[in-house]
Amino acid sequence: MFNRNRKLRKNQSIRDLVQETNISLNDLICPIFLIDGKNKTEEISSMSGIYRKSLDLQLIDIQEMVSLGIKSIILFPSISKSKKTKDAREALNPSGLIPKSIKSIKRKFPNIVVISDIALDPYNSDGHDGIYKDGIILNDETVKILTKQALLHAKSGVDFVSPSDMMDGRIFEIRNSLDKNGFEYTGIISYSAKFASSLYGPFRDALNSELKQGDKKTYQINPANSREALKEIIDDESEGADMVMIKPASLYLDIIHQAKNLTLLPIVAYQVSGEYSMIKTAGDEKFINLDGAILESLLSIKRAGADLIISYFTYYLAKNKLVSNS
Ligand code: PBG
Repeated sequence: MFNRNRKLRKNQSIRDLVQETNISLNDLICPIFLIDGKNKTEEISSMSGIYRKSLDLQLIDIQEMVSLGIKSIILFPSISKSKKTKDAREALNPSGLIPKSIKSIKRKFPNIVVISDIALDPYNSDGHDGIYKDGIILNDETVKILTKQALLHAKSGVDFVSPSDMMDGRIFEIRNSLDKNGFEYTGIISYSAKFASSLYGPFRDALNSELKQGDKKTYQINPANSREALKEIIDDESEGADMVMIKPASLYLDIIHQAKNLTLLPIVAYQVSGEYSMIKTAGDEKFINLDGAILESLLSIKRAGADLIISYFTYYLAKNKLVSNS
């Protein structure tokens, strides 16, 4: 006796009926790259199809995103070189690019969920996520600044702050400060398990935030370690995170899967810039089928256990009706 398992694959309707995992726009978060100025667009050379745009133009895109059913965006600033300093002070400028953008996006589109990245690298002339002194990233000094940055974004109306810096204790300090200042309902999505990956190159190109020296291995996790990543998730949950993130996604599906059994918090996976560029370039060259590969990559991330995925493919998928709201 053997089983005729192919009965469940006989035609599309049956395949649809037994499909276990689905991708919906409700699961996707769209990254947005902002630059100063008006009517400005720059294509990011290492991420074909992705642009840095000034706020006025991003607002036009966001309007379309809302009407297509995209629910959430995450903002990243590309700061001009002249504003980058060793103390990253532009991160705390109340009329800086991100506070200004949060206010105007939330004013025009109150229902889109706006997430802001908390870290110093866009503003830091060293390119590090924290304050860099004599070859060392200073933890507690950095956390003090991140806490102020998070409060500034909360005051501007952001729904979730998302610390991506991997300093110790930042979730605890940010949660305390938000609560003390009347922002009890501003959430925290923590980049908890963020690995020291080679796949962030195109993003650093997008932000012009290449490292001046050193690497990020004293704060981001060694790609060889899973228990260390799971410990970060446990710690961030106990410090007050509302969601936890694993990043990158595709090369870390085992971590996503284990995190699912470790916490009851929603799990966010970040399909990072390098994952985007690998699929996009191979697709554009017709080495692989672009749309098929995008959907397969997202399905695998969800199948592993992610509830939400940050993906640079979100806008493309929505515009081409490859994914809709379920
Ligand atoms: C930095 C930050 C990075 C990303 C998001 N926030 C890069 C880094 O840690 O060097 C990477 C995102 C991507 O590659 O798409 N705080």
